[in-house]
Amino acid sequence: MEALLDKYIREHSSPVAEPLVWLEKQTNIHTNYPRMLSGAVQGNLLKMLVQISGARRILEIGAFTGYSSICMALGLGPQGHIDTLEINDELEPLMRQAWERAGVSRLIELHLGPALETLKTLPPHNLYDMVFIDANKREYPQYYEAVLPLLRQGGLIVADDTLWDGKVYAKPVPADAQTAALVRFNETVAADPRVETVVLPLRDGLTLIRKR
Ligand SMILES: C[S@@+](CC[C@H](N)C(=O)[O-])C[C@H]1O[C@@H](n2cnc3c(N)ncnc32)[C@H](O)[C@@H]1O
Repeated sequence: MEALLDKYIREHSSPVAEPLVWLEKQTNIHTNYPRMLSGAVQGNLLKMLVQISGARRILEIGAFTGYSSICMALGLGPQGHIDTLEINDELEPLMRQAWERAGVSRLIELHLGPALETLKTLPPHNLYDMVFIDANKREYPQYYEAVLPLLRQGGLIVADDTLWDGKVYAKPVPADAQTAALVRFNETVAADPRVETVVLPLRDGLTLIRKR
């Protein structure tokens, strides 16, 4: 059941567009882990970050059914572009249907395959304004090092799930690979003089990282 705080926050944030409501329902029906989807509040925040920062070129790692890419695309101008990376090709039909329905398919390019491989193929001269990291938790430290050179100075990285259900600050910290990688990611980012960082306690933790 939705927690009271989450319900209150959702009810006092702007409603999302109809295609996002439709996509959340389809994701619940057709996928095994529908909770991976960003949801209305985080989706609104992603859209607002795009609008406030004036981002035009966005990289997303972990598309799932396309919810967060739609939110970011709705904050982009007509000249904007999103490269989104996804390993699971079975998600492509629903993703494309949702992008069409939201009227943003022209703005989004899907790159199927393992993100760490795809990242090596992206042209280094086309710097991104914003990167949303939301794929394999075990690979967060590698995603971070791979995307930092692809981000323009002053650009923003948004990393999802960084509090990992409280496991990253539990005592003792659980020994699983996902938690260990997120602990390493959080420590690296916090100590990195190349960036400024703030961890937000939204959902499962959302870290904002600005490249100096
Ligand atoms: C949490 S979901 C993304 C949710 C999406 N950003 C949203 O907010 O709706 C994580 C996605 O990352 C994908 N993924 C996992 N490992 C990956 C990898 N190595 N390369 C690319 N995508 C990966 C999964 O298949 C899954 O669809």
